Amino acid sequence: MSGSEYLFDTGSPQGQEHVTGLESILDAKTVEFLGVAGIEPGQRCLELGAGSGSIARRMAERTGAAGTVVAVDLDTGHLVERPGLDVHRHDINDGLPVPGPFDVIHARLVLVHLPRREQIFEMLVDALAPGGWLVLGDCYRLPQPITAPGEADEEVFRKVWRIASEIVGPAAGQDFGWAHRAYRRMAAAGLDELYAEDFSETAAGDGPHGRISAALVRQAEAPLLAAGCTPDELARFHELLRDPGMRYWFFGIVYTRGRKPR
Ligand SMILES: C[S@@+](CC[C@H](N)C(=O)[O-])C[C@H]1O[C@@H](n2cnc3c(N)ncnc32)[C@H](O)[C@@H]1O
Repeated sequence: MSGSEYLFDTGSPQGQEHVTGLESILDAKTVEFLGVAGIEPGQRCLELGAGSGSIARRMAERTGAAGTVVAVDLDTGHLVERPGLDVHRHDINDGLPVPGPFDVIHARLVLVHLPRREQIFEMLVDALAPGGWLVLGDCYRLPQPITAPGEADEEVFRKVWRIASEIVGPAAGQDFGWAHRAYRRMAAAGLDELYAEDFSETAAGDGPHGRISAALVRQAEAPLLAAGCTPDELARFHELLRDPGMRYWFFGIVYTRGRKPR
């Protein structure tokens, strides 16, 4: 077992808030982007880092009883076994829990976290069936303030995310450059029908964006404090996430897909 360096804990209450929040803001976009892969009854798919399991369940509705969706996560507490859904509590650093080939492999906000992403990417490409699709979504930019309620607030908001993106995240193996490399890596790996899209939206006040942000920062509180955030700054940061006067760009995410030649 190589040991995961994943900074968050999907099984914790904050981790649950994180993955169910992602589901609520990203699934519509993901389903649209995955649509081109045209998942069909009887196919075999892999959902890596399945989180709340919502995309794995949607895939399983398409593959039906004759197909299989292999759902893999370090924590599978959100994943309920049902016909056609094959759930594996597994560290992907240790390889695939079951061999390919797969008609569709999807991983959203997973490779950005994995220090061994290059090797895992190659493993995923190898596991594609001829004509199979690899669909990845990863973040490249953390939230950025647009307007803040008070003069010092914009700097507090900026500072917490700067320390997260420049110190805490990289120390845990996160790489925010990967999202834009994925297209080039797919091209170099011989995939075709390549296409990528940038998804970014604004947020303010109470809502899933603020709840995801709060859940992330609470899970990373100890390393954020150790890296230079003060307790007062973190307390103000959490107030700002609920304040309608705090308007910001949420995470920037690039979705990329490519297809293995037949
Ligand atoms: C940011 S969450 C994204 C969850 C889901 N894909 C989504 O977009 O809603 C990352 C997920 O990857 C899982 N994960 C992280 N490292 C992993 C590893 N080494 N092997 C398997 N799963 C991993 C986490 O437990 C978590 O559920």
